Amino acid sequence: MKANLTDTIKRVLSDESDVRAANAAYDREFPYERDDEAQVTRREFCGFLGLTSTALFAGAAGFAGKAVYDARQPENFAPLRIDGAAALERNSALNFHYPTAREPALLIRANDGNYYAYGQKCTHLSCPVYYSAATARIECPCHEAGFETATGKVLYGPPPRALDRIELELRNGEVWAVGKKVGGRDESNG
Ligand code: FES
Repeated sequence: MKANLTDTIKRVLSDESDVRAANAAYDREFPYERDDEAQVTRREFCGFLGLTSTALFAGAAGFAGKAVYDARQPENFAPLRIDGAAALERNSALNFHYPTAREPALLIRANDGNYYAYGQKCTHLSCPVYYSAATARIECPCHEAGFETATGKVLYGPPPRALDRIELELRNGEVWAVGKKVGGRDESNG
């Protein structure tokens, strides 16, 4: 086994010297050392890595920018009557979907009798937020965040911005969702 390994190493080394011998005549005309070649290859590889990283970074930044741009574009929202809103007791909440059937939202009737509504996705990592009657604020269970009921602004925790606010209108005693506004980093979310 050891003899086989030794033979193999010798054969590989002799192959290497054979190649060098075979190339010797051309080396004079094209003096290009293998070590230098390795250097060039490393340099090219580093350049390739740099270009790839730059391209990936630019791509990710582009996607992120487009997502923010799209989120902030004015949209036409079809008004939606929120079932059960009129009967909602103070200091409680109900779930609905707006502006599409796939976007969960939270309607809250606060202690003062006013209605507030927000997209239910936490602005940190999209966990569903809920209304806590015990604290009278909106909370996210995933990383212990809290939002102010009347504004949706972040009270504590890691979310980087306020909740997305759903605009409401009272029509003949019914509560209607009529628009959605992306929550900002400012204090008022307005
Ligand atoms: S997902 Fe809500 S605090 Fe992290």
